[in-house]
Amino acid sequence: MKIAVFDDHQVMSFQAARMIATQIKNKPDSVICLASGETPFLAYHLLSTLLLGEGVDHQQFTLIDLDEWVNIPSQNTGSCSYFLHTTLIGPLKLSLSQFKLFDGIALDLQAECDAMDEFISKRGGIDLMVVGIGMNGHIGFNEPGVSTELYTHVIELDDTTRTVGQKYFAGKTTLGQGITLGLKHLQESNSVLLMASGDRKARIMKATLEGTIDPLVPSTIIRNHSNGLVMLDQKAASLLTPDE
Ligand code: PGA
Repeated sequence: MKIAVFDDHQVMSFQAARMIATQIKNKPDSVICLASGETPFLAYHLLSTLLLGEGVDHQQFTLIDLDEWVNIPSQNTGSCSYFLHTTLIGPLKLSLSQFKLFDGIALDLQAECDAMDEFISKRGGIDLMVVGIGMNGHIGFNEPGVSTELYTHVIELDDTTRTVGQKYFAGKTTLGQGITLGLKHLQESNSVLLMASGDRKARIMKATLEGTIDPLVPSTIIRNHSNGLVMLDQKAASLLTPDE
């Protein structure tokens, strides 16, 4: 795993966009898993500008989402599905066969998990996973204490996730469970990009990069990934021990 620190969120977002675009240029049929959230929002906007501006073939890659709130329909502006539609799927005019998102209101959630796992394995696995990090160290909805051996699964959300998650919704929303790719996907992905930004992520980034590797802080698992990159802005990196 490598670490890169940037002056601010904007510079970091540009580098992240450049990295994702390079993945698509080098391997047009890449399978790319994307997180939702405040952190990657600008990177995805810049990515669509880069791909369109540079005429990169973006009709062959496959986009899958990292996670979704259970019981939240895709039309809800706080859903991950809505986020990916508005940031990338719409602007890039991706075809229906090019993306697979979770249906948070599916009656059979286990079938939803199985379908995602099958979709990924049929395409030969994930080339690049772009993830954020929760204040509790979650990756997607891999909440503290989750098994590192799981593929896609449904999970009870941690209190921190339920509280912090309110920021995505227009009004107070009951958040109970999430559906998420598992840490096994992260370990098996060819490459992983984790982004963190702002003072509010400084404490968890110190635990992630300098604490014990422990399922109680799921994000620590990225340290075992040989092709993992952690991008931080100065604020998120502010508590890290400086290099000798
Ligand atoms: P954020 O979410 O980018 O909105 O901070 C990150 C996360 O909870 O994974």
